[in-house]
Amino acid sequence: MSDDTSAVTAPSAFDADLPVIDDFNPDAGHEELTERVRELAAESWIARNPIGFSILGYDDVTAVLRDKRWHNLVGRLAEMRGITDPHFIENRRESILSAEGEVHTRLRRLVAKAFSPRSADRLRPFMREVVNGLVDEVAPSGRADIAVDICEPYPIPIICELLGAPKEDWQLFSRWAEDVLRIFNGTVLDELDVIKAAQEELNEYTRDLIATRRNDPREDLLTDLIAAEEEGDRLDTEELVMMVNAVIVGGTDTTRNQLGCAVGLFTQHPDQWKLLADRPELAPTAVEEVMRYLGAVRGTGRFASEDIVYRDLLFPEGTIVFPSAVSANYSPDVWEDPGTFDITREPIPGRPQMTFGSGIHYCLGASLARAELQEALPLLARRMPNLAVDGAIEWKPVTTAIFGPAHLPVTFDPGH
Ligand code: HEM
Repeated sequence: MSDDTSAVTAPSAFDADLPVIDDFNPDAGHEELTERVRELAAESWIARNPIGFSILGYDDVTAVLRDKRWHNLVGRLAEMRGITDPHFIENRRESILSAEGEVHTRLRRLVAKAFSPRSADRLRPFMREVVNGLVDEVAPSGRADIAVDICEPYPIPIICELLGAPKEDWQLFSRWAEDVLRIFNGTVLDELDVIKAAQEELNEYTRDLIATRRNDPREDLLTDLIAAEEEGDRLDTEELVMMVNAVIVGGTDTTRNQLGCAVGLFTQHPDQWKLLADRPELAPTAVEEVMRYLGAVRGTGRFASEDIVYRDLLFPEGTIVFPSAVSANYSPDVWEDPGTFDITREPIPGRPQMTFGSGIHYCLGASLARAELQEALPLLARRMPNLAVDGAIEWKPVTTAIFGPAHLPVTFDPGH
């Protein structure tokens, strides 16, 4: 894709005549912005945005995410938000989400097995139990705020069970997850003390849990991570703590918002909701289609770790790009009739929906997330027949790193 001579001769992307998009306008409606992104994608594989460039084409999004010279912007998030506390920045740099090169390869190699589909399958009965428990609360009335009553609480017990943390600590985890995730908010500078305190409490708790598991191994992720070994290499305690953090940061808000996006979408497609209730075996294709059609992660960020030439344009070192899943997921080159929501649509081999990302940072928890959604959605469809929005869905600002409904008030036939 690049060589030294082309880097000298290729024109800078900053000088190219490119369409412009403002994907950072928090007041834009998600449907309006999505439409604009997709219209642009028909014209150009790349657009200029206020921070750098949006990458729009499916093959280009894949190519950028698979090119290791583009590094994850998440490692720079704290600095970009104006945080200068070196201890804080140092801690975040060590995360698997931001690690690159050999450090990242080693971490992925060590943890891959613990995140396999088989490990996720162990939790399926528990997932059903949790969803049923949540629906039991609202089923008699036939009314719920899906975002608050179902999506919000759902991932915490799963993550606790995954890690082997006891039920009495669910509330603690919920608070830590919420506070640690404040790093993604625009108000992060005001909340830094809360974030740091939650981080430290969580780390302390995790160290204790690790010590307990070392003496008392069980069937859980933490035990698997402690035991993970490749050619004599193991994760040390601080790396284990980092992995638990990554699971909480990566695995809570994503899942709850994706479930909210899914149910919100189904309210607009009652025939598909009924189909899923009648044919729960469609859950795997339904989940891929939901994530393609309305993903909770609309895209991700990368910066050029060196001068990069791609498609005859020079992206100087430090250039920031946003590969857009929203745009890639509607590519007419990949999907026939991409604007149709069809839960029987078969995934195309080698061309997955892009909401889990691609390349080395491809979602580590994808099997777990798929299992969570595959268990929750058919169950909700069966127990909430004739689902309808009661008033209006209140969506989070479209610029929120992980997008979904803040409130999703619904009515449905009670008593199921
Ligand atoms: C539907 C729910 C989920 C979505 C949409 C999602 C999406 C993503 C995406 C797009 C990335 C790549 C980010 C990038 O390239 O910059 C990612 C990475 C990651 N996800 Fe997920 N995720 C979900 C659920 C989960 C769950 C349940 C877990 C944990 C159990 C998890 C853990 C992670 C981790 C640790 C990474 C970093 C991997 C690495 O950098 O090597 N995710 N996720």
